[in-house]
Order: sequence, then C-alpha cells, then structure tokens
Amino acid sequence: MIQLKKIFLILVCTSVMWSCAQEKNGFDREIERKIDRLVKKMTLEEKIGQMNLISFFNSNIDQQLADGIRNGQVGSLINVVDPALVNEYQRIAIEESRLGIPLIIGRDVIHGFKTVFPIPLGLAATFNPGLIEQGARVAAIEATSTGVRWTFSPMLDISRDPRWGRIAEGFGEDTYLTSVMGMAMVRGYQGDDPADPTAMAACVKHFAGYGAAEGGRDYNSTFIPERVLRNVYLPPFIAAIQEGALTVMTSFNDNDGIPSTGNRFLLRDILRDEWDFTGFVVSDWTSIYEMIPHGFASDASHASQLALEAGVDMDMMSFTYVSHLGELAAEGKISEKWIDQAVRNILRVKFKLGLFDNPYVDEQMHKQVFYAPEHLELARKSVVESAVLLSNDGTLPLDASKTKTLLITGPMADAPYEQLGTWIFDGEEQRTVTPLTAFRQLYGNAVRILYEPGLAFSRDKNPAGIRKAVAAARKADAVIVIVGEESILSGEAHCLADLNLQGAQSELIASLASSGKPVITVVMAGRPLTLSREKECSNALLFAFHPGTMGGTAIADLIFGKEVPSGKLPVTFPVSSGQIPVYYNHNRTGRPFLGNETFIDDIPLKAGQTSLGNTSFYLDQGIAPQFPFGFGLSYTSFAYTNIHLDKVLYGKKDTISLTFDLTNTGKRSGTEVAQLYVCDKTGSVTRPVKELKKFERITLEPGETRTVMWTLPVNDLAFWNLQMEKVVEPGQFDLWVAGDSVSGDPVLFEVY
Ligand code: NOJ
Repeated sequence: MIQLKKIFLILVCTSVMWSCAQEKNGFDREIERKIDRLVKKMTLEEKIGQMNLISFFNSNIDQQLADGIRNGQVGSLINVVDPALVNEYQRIAIEESRLGIPLIIGRDVIHGFKTVFPIPLGLAATFNPGLIEQGARVAAIEATSTGVRWTFSPMLDISRDPRWGRIAEGFGEDTYLTSVMGMAMVRGYQGDDPADPTAMAACVKHFAGYGAAEGGRDYNSTFIPERVLRNVYLPPFIAAIQEGALTVMTSFNDNDGIPSTGNRFLLRDILRDEWDFTGFVVSDWTSIYEMIPHGFASDASHASQLALEAGVDMDMMSFTYVSHLGELAAEGKISEKWIDQAVRNILRVKFKLGLFDNPYVDEQMHKQVFYAPEHLELARKSVVESAVLLSNDGTLPLDASKTKTLLITGPMADAPYEQLGTWIFDGEEQRTVTPLTAFRQLYGNAVRILYEPGLAFSRDKNPAGIRKAVAAARKADAVIVIVGEESILSGEAHCLADLNLQGAQSELIASLASSGKPVITVVMAGRPLTLSREKECSNALLFAFHPGTMGGTAIADLIFGKEVPSGKLPVTFPVSSGQIPVYYNHNRTGRPFLGNETFIDDIPLKAGQTSLGNTSFYLDQGIAPQFPFGFGLSYTSFAYTNIHLDKVLYGKKDTISLTFDLTNTGKRSGTEVAQLYVCDKTGSVTRPVKELKKFERITLEPGETRTVMWTLPVNDLAFWNLQMEKVVEPGQFDLWVAGDSVSGDPVLFEVY
C-alpha cells in the first residue's frame, strides 16, 4: 500500500513538474486538450487550409475568398483593416465553415498604425525600451480596434550595411540594443495577456540573417558562419521568443546556399529544439515559391515539401501548400505528422489570442482610439528622444526672443507623406505635422517665418529654387534646411549604392551656407547617409530619421530648445559608402588601426613595395567613420569619472558591480545615454573590439553629479566559442563606461 502511495505521489509530482515545464515553454494544458479535440475532427484539407495565409486589400467582400473561408481552405488573412469586413469574414469562418475556426487578421504595423512613430531605426536611437514598449502598445490599441490581431513586427535583423533599404525597419547594427528593443516591442504588442482584445501577436522577422544581404542589396545571399549567426544575428530572436513572441517569419535570403524558408537547421533544430518555440512559423511573402528561382526547389510541389519539412507552418501567398500538400501526403512524400504539428502550432496561437472566445471586433472602437491625444503625445516624445544631434557649434538651440526672422527651407520641410517613412499602410499624411506647420504654429507669433522650399522633392536636381532660397536666407537671421530621403527611398527593395544626399540637396545646403547666415541642417531619412560635406557647411546638424506623424512639432521644439536632444546613433555613419561595412563591434585584427597611418597623399612617389601603415584601413579614408555607434550630442555636456569595479577578479557565476559618477557639466538640464562596453581580450576565437552590454538614460540638472550603480552578470560575457558552446572563457577583459562607442578609458578586470 505504502509502495503504491509512493508511486502515485511520484506520478503526480512528475505530471505537475511536466505541466509546469510545458506551460513555461508556452504549452497550456487546457489549450492543448482543445487542440487535440479539434485536430481529431479536421480533414486533411481543413488542416492544409489552416496553413494558408491570404492577403486581401479590397474594401468589399470578395465571394471567392468568402467561399475559400467557408470551405476551410483559408486559415488567416492579412491586409483587411475595415472592421465591418473583418467581422464579416470572421462570421463566415465561425458560422459557415464546418468547424468554426476563427481567422487571424494580420497587418504590417511596423512603427505605429494611424499615429505613426519614428521608423524603428529612429526608435532604437532613443535607447529607451520603456518608450518603445508604450509606442507598441499604442500601435496595438489602434490596430486591434480594426480587428487586426497580428503584426509583422518587430524586425530583428541586425544590419551593418546602410545601403540596405530595410535597415530603416530594424534597430541597427548592435545585437544587444536590438534584443532589448525587440523585447520591448513584443511586450507592447502582446501586452500582459495576448487574449486581451487590444493585444496583437508579434511576429519576429526575418529569420534569419536577412540584414547581412551581400552588398546591401535586398533579397541577396548571405554568408554567415554558424558562430557569427549565433553570436550576432540570433540573440535578438531568442530574446524576443523568451519574451513570449507568438510567431516567427522566415527570411527571403539564402545563407550559405540554403534559403531560410527551407532551412531545417534554423527552423527545427534551433527554433524548436533548442529554443522550445511553441508558436507558429510563417513564410515571408511567396518565399516558399521563391525557392524555385533560388534554384533550391525544382517546382512548387518540391518547394512545399522542402518548406514543410524545414518547419514552415504557414504559407504566405505562395498558394503552394493548398495546391500541393494534399497530393504530397497522398503520395507518401510528406508525413501527415508534419502537417498536424504545423496546424497545432497555428491553432495554439489562435487559442492564445482568445479568438475562439472573442473573434469579433467592436466596429465603433476605432473612432475613439485613432490619434488619441495621448498617442500623439507619445509619438512626439519618441521623436524628441530619437533625434540625434550630430554637430553643433553653439548655434543650437535658437533663442526665440532673439531670432527675428527664420527661413525654413528644403524639400522635406513640408512633405507630410515623406516624413512618415517606410511601411505606413495606415498612416495618413493629412494628420502629419510637418516642420513648416509646427514652426509656424508654435513659434510664428514670436518669430517671422519665411518659407522657400529650394527643391520640390528630395531627388530634385533643378537649381532654380536654390537661388530663391539663398535670396530668402539673406533676409533671415538663421536658416533651417530640412533635407533627406523621400519615404520610398528606403524600406523593402529600396537599396542604394551611393549614400550622399539625393538630387541637389547638398548644393542647396552649400549655397545657403554661402549666404553667411547660420545654417541648421535637419535630415529626415530612413538610413545613415554620408554627410561630411553637409557637416562642413552647417552650423548644426540634427538627424531625425523619418519621424512620423509628430515629427514637425518635436523638431521645432528641439531647435528652439524647449526640448534637449538625447538620441544616440544605433548604427555607424560612414564617411563614404566605400567604407561599408563599417561597424563598431568588428573583430580584433592582427594589425589594428593605430591612428598614425600613412594616408594616400603622404606616400612618396616611386615608393618601394611596403605594407604601408601596416594596419587595417583605407589609404584614402582611414577607417574612422563619420559618426560612431552610440554617438549623439546634447545642449549640455556630461563627464564620466570614478569608474570603479567592486573587484578585479570574478568567477563565472559572479555579478560585476560597478559605480561611476556622471556629471552634467553644462548649463542646461539634459539626458545622457550612458553606455557600457566590454572587450574580451583573448578568446578561443577572435572577439569583437567592443560590445555593448548595458545602457541607461540618465537625466541630470546643470552641475548635478549622480553616482550610478550598475550590475553586470559575468554570464553576460558568454559567447559561442571554438567548440560552438556558449560559455564565458576565463581571461582578461576591458570595460568602458562612456557616452559613445569610441570614448572613455578601459578598466581592466579578469574572469577565472
Ligand atoms: C514581405 C516583407 O519582407 C515582410 O517583412 C512583410 O511582413 C511581408 N511582406 C508582408 O507584407
């Protein structure tokens, strides 16, 4: 009897432990039971239907689509954003399909829905995950009011190449910053409970390595070795998945010859087996089919087989699954087990989103939430914190009481659509506040505002307007020239080989400078640009990314000092495109740049063969970028002193405690993004010269000093080493605390 009791107890404990482990991994027993019951009732066709994602942009009900839903051939929809239409399609799924399985409605809500926030690269420049989380919440509240419950965001592709147009959509070049920002967005979209009607499922994309497209050309191949993949490109994905991200999208690229959509190592071995991901994997748009032009699949049937075996659960717009999985199963070429798994993954997300209990949307709700004042204020704050002051000779901030006449010029000064940036399906230019509008509204009473566009649009090469702008500059006390890129020049499939300002914008700035008046250049763009000439010609240079709906208000307040810049670059700005790739956390080389190299003009004629300079750099442009990662000025200044570590020697399980004094050494209150970098000095493989490990925004009054206390678990120094194991290797490390990735003096410590 006692023995029996013991066995019973062991069984109970094991099952409790098992279910805890399962729930922690994203399995909920109740949901799994519901899935079991449902899957048992499903025909093969109905299962395949769940794996079919259709895009539909029309504003009227489409009978063919309605029939597809009715017959269980369509499981989810994207791009339907009219709540009445969403409800009608949902009603057909619930009431008229055999099993009443609800649809998921998806949309690319990338940096806001109606209220458009700065592009993600700009959001990254805030170094403020709390703000990013709130912004994502706003996007979710607005989008879900139309019935959208799934967004294809955040994009977690690390990119070290600003020629790549999609750099706009991510958080830049740094693995840690991207991880922190990605987690914040997931929290914001999904909220505390994905079943809340204002929550939408996040989709982390593009899995994986897409940002490393060769030559910065979209859709291009990547060649990322496994160690680099694991050390640099994958950590943001695992972080977001641990944060609860419900879905993952594959990427278009092939890596070392294997398209991601057919990459079983990525989608099964890593995502499922190593990371215990329990949500579903969706292909990118037609990426299953695209394995044919990739030369990886011989036809659509073969592509479906490869994608399913690799672990793609849902087909976005290739129609290959619905066309071929049935016959592949009948021929025994694929196992129905794979199909069942995929369907379970999809149904799990539908249950978690509460769609079975609550499939419909309140059709009036959007009227209350679009452009709510608190949404606009958050968007404005996000622009304030994302704008990066790149140079300033003291001209900024302008004093409204001393500036009698101000010229606003440049093709982006009053371009309401262009300042919204890429992926703004739902943003409306009529709601955009342009800089011109904001300067007039907010400062027009105190300052006489002149406006002369100079150029009609960013690519405009016609110099006629430049003369007018220069004539107007002569009548002004200061000139604000707002330049950059039209929205369409960055984003998907919009890559550039030359990162100079387009059209005659550079000439416009140079001509304005020749007027002798102070010139403040504001850049609104989707990517880092090469701005050496503009820096030379400007008294101050402010980089505002594509700032979204509230860009104008924030920029006007920054220029007049009502707000103080605090953004820092999430990506390196090169001197020229020829320097690319140039990123701060490159590996150590055997001949590092020393700073005393021989440049091209110093090479004597008929110089003999020599390893000139003996370091890794360009004869004509060195290797120093125009502006380094982490860089950004304020209207005040900050000093870092007394950096102190609690020990010099740490065990692998220890936590480093460090303190430093941060002083506001200027005359204005301001916010500094303090950054902690580490260099692992010797490893079983070569290690980066520096890696960001922590940051914090700290606001100080003039003259104020704060002693900041930080902790850093030694485990955060772990990396994938020679044996392809994630470990902390003993040895010496340098540590910096500074306001950017190039400043400060190293402090040495050791791990045993
Ligand atoms: C293709 C893009 O690569 C992806 O990011 C986007 O989410 C899908 N299209 C859906 O629009």
